[in-house]
Amino acid sequence: MTSHSHSSSAPLSALSSGPLIGRVRPPGDKSVSHRALIFGLLAIGETRIEGLLEGEDVLRTAEACRALGARVVKHEEGSWSVWGAGLGSLVQPGDTLDFGNAGTGSRLMMGVVAGHPIVARFDGDASLRKRPMKRILDPLTQQGAQVLEQAEGGRLPLVIAGASEPLPFEYKTPVASAQIKSAVLLCGLNSPGRTVVIEPEASRDHTEKMLAHFGAKVTSDPHGAHGRKITLEGRPELRARPVIVPADPSSAAFPLVAALITPGSQVTIDGVMTNPLRAGLLTTLIEMGADIALENRREEGGEEVADVVARYSTLHGVDAPAERAPSMIDEYPILAVAAAFAKGETRMRGLSELRVKESDRLAAIAAGLVANGVDCAIIGDDLIVRGGPVRGGGVVETHLDHRIAMSFLVMGLASANKITVDDETMIATSFPDFKGLMQKLGARFA
Ligand code: S3P
Repeated sequence: MTSHSHSSSAPLSALSSGPLIGRVRPPGDKSVSHRALIFGLLAIGETRIEGLLEGEDVLRTAEACRALGARVVKHEEGSWSVWGAGLGSLVQPGDTLDFGNAGTGSRLMMGVVAGHPIVARFDGDASLRKRPMKRILDPLTQQGAQVLEQAEGGRLPLVIAGASEPLPFEYKTPVASAQIKSAVLLCGLNSPGRTVVIEPEASRDHTEKMLAHFGAKVTSDPHGAHGRKITLEGRPELRARPVIVPADPSSAAFPLVAALITPGSQVTIDGVMTNPLRAGLLTTLIEMGADIALENRREEGGEEVADVVARYSTLHGVDAPAERAPSMIDEYPILAVAAAFAKGETRMRGLSELRVKESDRLAAIAAGLVANGVDCAIIGDDLIVRGGPVRGGGVVETHLDHRIAMSFLVMGLASANKITVDDETMIATSFPDFKGLMQKLGARFA
């Protein structure tokens, strides 16, 4: 199957809905799910995974793990097992590794391949083919991999020949990106020496946590005002370990904001990961006056989780600082929706990375807001939204971007008029049951 042409798009409308009431559990975290499969591939023995996100992005990673030599099965009761090929023992894939829409899966797997003496071809859908891969290829080639083919500007499709012995390496990431950091560390795993990554601002730390969980020697120390320095000793013996995947805060964000903006709502979202490096949206919404309570705080699978209770709230605009961006990088589309209903102006600073996500999210958010009568502006890398009651009535172009689709559907639940997204199919990449879960709370779609 190839995913280069997106065959048929399916529009969906969200209608003004009554109070949203109930209790739901969003699917497993996407970042943790990709990593659980990849570490399963690199470890010896059986890695059992509970709560894996069965979204299309993650299923592409599972497929790639199989192509590189792992046995990956789903058990009848819903958990998954990976029997790894083992670090240093990956097999050469017989075919192109097609990652569909998945930036994380493709970039992390480039790191894995770059650290092994195999050749692999990477490809993806029209959205992934537009995304910059040079930021990954630059460090990986310095670690000893070769790029045999690439599309213009360092894009997919591309072919990587991995190094048989990746070089010890120290790298300063040019932007705070967990994908760049993770690709370098995954390549460095098979180096006989030490790999060091220094990031200007701390990005999500799931790779570091999972490295330690699987038995690698890794340390992470503060570096500068907001950054981190991660040090990994190469060639550890990675032992298979069970992984429990908590609910994805980036998916929880949709029912959460829907409850805050829809009058009369009260929604509980169970088991949400509250890792501080992912919790920027909660911080910002609380600053905006949101009525959010974290109940039953506990640890699951090495991550902090909580049940998040959200009630309809009168929100006001805030100034969201640039240094908070890495901890809510995927949440700006839904934060912009919350800001559209808030009193006054919200300024979201430092959003340059949004231009290279599944779509140019900065442009897509602004276009969707304007289409629905919301006053907004992009000034440099900042997004400014002036809130109030939302007219709605617009059709939003999603540009193959799941989070743009879900965000504007949430907006439609609380707008005066329905909001239509031009294509709902990409929602399946990260949140296959989005519509069903929202309907359970009382959301109306047509
Ligand atoms: C991810 C990192 C982020 C995020 C993406 C998932 C990860 O990308 O946007 O959805 O799992 O490492 P960057 O690291 O490029 O900012």
